[in-house]
Amino acid sequence: MIRSRNKTCFNNMTSTDERNQRLLAFLHLLGRFRDEDAAIYNSMAAGYESFSKVWEEEIARPALEHLLKSASRRIPPHGRVLDAGCGTGLRIPDIATYFKPRRVFGLDVSSAMLDVARRKGYGVPVSFEEGNLHALPYEDESMDAVIATWSVETTSNPGHAVREFLRVLKPGGVVAYSYVQIPKSTSEREILSKLDTGQKFDQLGEALSPEHLPFHNCSNSELRHFAEGIISTVILGKCCDVSPGWLPKPFDFDEFISETC
Ligand SMILES: C[S@@+](CC[C@H](N)C(=O)[O-])C[C@H]1O[C@@H](n2cnc3c(N)ncnc32)[C@H](O)[C@@H]1O
Repeated sequence: MIRSRNKTCFNNMTSTDERNQRLLAFLHLLGRFRDEDAAIYNSMAAGYESFSKVWEEEIARPALEHLLKSASRRIPPHGRVLDAGCGTGLRIPDIATYFKPRRVFGLDVSSAMLDVARRKGYGVPVSFEEGNLHALPYEDESMDAVIATWSVETTSNPGHAVREFLRVLKPGGVVAYSYVQIPKSTSEREILSKLDTGQKFDQLGEALSPEHLPFHNCSNSELRHFAEGIISTVILGKCCDVSPGWLPKPFDFDEFISETC
């Protein structure tokens, strides 16, 4: 059973089993998507928020709040903010609250996720566009901030995506992204048990070992870990050196031992 970090959030859900299944479905989704195939997100766009809600409210909220608060402090309000891999627009209300942007640009490769996003109101001007994180359809130095939550790790080349974020970033701007990384061969049962008991995922760090991080030379960067280590948040400035080799590799949940809870 997953320990409820915010017990009041899920009183409408039927059971712990259902909550666990939704959480695992979200994590499987991150591992299985490849940008070559938007079909996966297109096929589940309508249901996406029903299981990302468990992840968001029970596991990821502290990481998201830290990321957005820390990033938004670095730039003045009323800027142009890109939500890269915006999906159904879940992050835009947070972006509006923290960044008080002049305009948000929501980009995603999945037309069905964007259809859901377009149907909502946000209280700030938003322009949605279909496109790829690996070839952002924006001018160099045109964004004050680039935010990406749970999208870089779903692409086939996270490093390329982050370099694109830095290309479109204005000098003095901020790139902020969060990603999930779970050691390969971790079973579903083990994931749930660790999150329940607060045990760290001790194999983490292989893809992000200190010697491979770009942060040593960049006073504008920050790396933090949350949720027993499986969530990382990264903040970069325009000057940060993003070298190949250190970035999170897409993980493959097919390698997990499949178990029913
Ligand atoms: C797990 S969802 C996260 C959505 C949203 N950022 C959130 O926090 O709910 C990942 C999103 O990234 C998008 N995505 C994945 N790879 C992409 C790529 N190469 N280019 C553009 N969007 C991509 C998917 O279509 C999906 O909407």
